[in-house]
Amino acid sequence: MEMLEFLRSRRTYRRFEQRPVEENVVREILEAARIASCGANRQTLKYAVVQSPEMVAKMNALVHWAAYLPPEQGTPKVGEQPVLFVAVCQDESLPGANDTDAGLALGSMTAVAWSHGVGSCIMGAIDRPAIKELLHLGDSLRLHSVVAFGYPTHKSRVVEMQDGDVKYYLDEARDYCVPKRPMEEILLETV
Ligand SMILES: Cc1cc2nc3c(=O)[nH]c(=O)nc-3n(C[C@H](O)[C@H](O)[C@H](O)COP(=O)(O)O)c2cc1C
Repeated sequence: MEMLEFLRSRRTYRRFEQRPVEENVVREILEAARIASCGANRQTLKYAVVQSPEMVAKMNALVHWAAYLPPEQGTPKVGEQPVLFVAVCQDESLPGANDTDAGLALGSMTAVAWSHGVGSCIMGAIDRPAIKELLHLGDSLRLHSVVAFGYPTHKSRVVEMQDGDVKYYLDEARDYCVPKRPMEEILLETV
């Protein structure tokens, strides 16, 4: 697939098939994180993989889905929930942790997943203390975010923004429509 077309379809997905993400894809997600660019090459990020159905169910109770949608539309029901979570942690015992590094790792992880047809949802609205306890993450680890993964059962597409409204919505097929600002709004100047 052409790169821009790939990025256009690498959206957030929130409903998934109930089959595990293939092991080689899980490995590639972590490898993409491992080799991501980071400030001064300090590599302060650490990862926890959650893939047993019991632990995934526990994680799922500690994350919040789709703030712009009513729960019956945006929260995946039993039978549509993600099958894998990766927790992204900043190891504060190492110098130089920063959010740009986490963002770059998140971008690489979700892109390599999507290259195998695995959709994702980066999640910041999470119960950090409860997830830290569940995963036995030590005191020096700051839980930055988690990513939910799975093979999506819906589509998602970028749509034209109406009246500056950034809220995504579902169409009649329950596919996501994600408004993005037009180019003339984001491009400040070309000199
Ligand atoms: C830093 C960050 C945190 C996010 N947190 C959540 C979250 O807690 N729950 C959720 O359902 N989606 C979350 N999302 C997904 C965003 O809602 C989504 O990226 C946005 O609506 C744009 O959709 P798109 O990714 O398809 O472009 C998060 C995305 C990012 C980048």
